[in-house]
Amino acid sequence: MTSNSLFGARMVALGTALPDKVLTNQDLEKMVDTSSEWIVERSGIHERRIGGTTAGLAAEAGQIAIERSGIDPQTIDLLILATTTPDRRVPATASTVQELLGLSCGAMDLNAACSGFVYGMIAAHGFINMGHQRVLVIGAETLRRLVDWTDRATCILFADGAGAAIIERTEGPGDLHGWHVNSNGALEEALYCDFDATIQMSGQAIFKNAVLAMEHAARQSLEMADLSPAEIDLVVPHQANVRIVEASCKRLGIPYEKTSMVIHRTGNTSSASIPLALEDAWQAGRVKKGDRLLLVGFGAGMTSAAAVITWDGK
Ligand code: UT7
Repeated sequence: MTSNSLFGARMVALGTALPDKVLTNQDLEKMVDTSSEWIVERSGIHERRIGGTTAGLAAEAGQIAIERSGIDPQTIDLLILATTTPDRRVPATASTVQELLGLSCGAMDLNAACSGFVYGMIAAHGFINMGHQRVLVIGAETLRRLVDWTDRATCILFADGAGAAIIERTEGPGDLHGWHVNSNGALEEALYCDFDATIQMSGQAIFKNAVLAMEHAARQSLEMADLSPAEIDLVVPHQANVRIVEASCKRLGIPYEKTSMVIHRTGNTSSASIPLALEDAWQAGRVKKGDRLLLVGFGAGMTSAAAVITWDGK
């Protein structure tokens, strides 16, 4: 990360998984008092995927990342699973995923809501800095299980999916140039889910704070990286609402065209959304070696996280 680091780290492979079942806005029109036009106009979502378990989706994404990297899975030292929807209260779903992938390593869940993947990625760089060789970071969610399917304010937004990245030790300083994590617990009541209950959300309060939190996290990480917003090639934001991303980009002075967006087909998959958008940009050939990427998210809590990385090109 800096010249003081013992070991640098870089992202070497991605993997993603989405359930087969597609739930369209037209499907939702039959379930609650809404319209596809309203959902598209207010959120940018056209359809989303639902199904599976958090461990199952996480393992699918993790397996793809392992295969693409060509590494020996036994060289993975740690599995960090960012999720707000563990399959059980105990044990950590990361342990289930570890078993599904046949890994011999440490495993833990991380709940920083929708910022979780970026928190996990930053933590992975820290573990490698302290001596680990490889860390598998996964963001995976089955939010459909927390949604009240009679509440039109939330059921149109949330969905299921997973995205994974392998972070490994490298010569030199590595790919992470700036980062920031934050939380504002005073806003807890704006978005929460009690045990055995469904998601409660004050949409407008989250919207307003999200725009500010994204801008703040982005600026802090850019400052650490000694870069200006204009020097970012691609923004990979949390996929909660197209309008939140547009407003944040406007405040940062970054053209919206520089963002990778998948929300139209995934909905809000919380901690899976950033790796899903990153994979989409990579598949579309939108990132090349040396590009500077800004990964930035926000979520319940009210957490936020940002990371400025250089794309390795692998
Ligand atoms: O990962 C973080 C998770 N959460 C978020 O990021 C949520 C952030 N907030 C948002 O994305 C937006 O606030 C929403 C998409 C949730 C809502 O958009 P909005 O433009 O803020 O709408 P609103 O809440 O101000 O509601 C406007 C109207 C209301 O009706 P009245 O009071 O004006 O008559 C709502 O009852 O739209 C109504 N409404 C709906 N109408 C049709 C709320 N949900 C729906 C719906 N279909 N699904």
